[in-house]
Amino acid sequence: FPVPLIHISETNSTNSYLQTLCSKQQEVAEFTTVVADFQTSGRGQRGNSWESEPGKNLLFSFVLFPEFLEARRQFLISQVVSLAIKEELDSYTDDISIKWPNDIYWKNKKICGMLIENDLMGRTIRQSISGIGINVNQEAFHSSAPNPVSLQQITGKQYEIFGILRNIMLRVQSYYELLRNDDTEFIANRYEKALFRKEGMHRYKDPDGEFFARIVCVEPEGRLILEDETLRKRGYMFKEVEYL
Ligand code: BTN
Repeated sequence: FPVPLIHISETNSTNSYLQTLCSKQQEVAEFTTVVADFQTSGRGQRGNSWESEPGKNLLFSFVLFPEFLEARRQFLISQVVSLAIKEELDSYTDDISIKWPNDIYWKNKKICGMLIENDLMGRTIRQSISGIGINVNQEAFHSSAPNPVSLQQITGKQYEIFGILRNIMLRVQSYYELLRNDDTEFIANRYEKALFRKEGMHRYKDPDGEFFARIVCVEPEGRLILEDETLRKRGYMFKEVEYL
């Protein structure tokens, strides 16, 4: 396997498991990956939970120590991880895109969610744990998640999940090398090309109400820039805008 791998059958959350490991153990190698068949309390964005049938899907977390990256540019980690996953999923189906800030979509459904937890120390990133849930072989969803879809539902096939994990980690490693070499323009270009809703006007909602807008860009700090029908530019950090 390309990275140190810990496979457990059940845990509360692979993010929490890896966090505990890193706090207890002195030398955890970069890219150490924890993968679980089942999580009893998988964690999602905004305090949501992440549901997954036992053994069907990819539930994993890996750790990075990007001491070369300033804290204000931490969104680059989300960008490289998103690109690695998006490009791997591209090899199984069309219509995969990255939904800012932390999801991967197939058409307008969610196939993957990410929970990236960074531990900052002053202006640097001491530790970054990326937790990823990819719906692979699950045939039906019963939870309250609004629009889930799995690779199986898209293609009708079953997949060997460790093969997908292996390829994703190889891709993460090569994108991380680009980041280390400060090739951020290349990353930003790739990222913008891969964005969900990159073309056309779509409906959004912010605390002031609903509006139509197009995506202008995503700034290096992670801010999403939209332009509404009156050509007014609006910038949003995470959770400040909703896609309708
Ligand atoms: C979201 O879309 O809300 C993010 C979901 C992230 C889920 C993954 S599953 C593996 C890792 N462990 C967790 O507890 N959460 C992430």
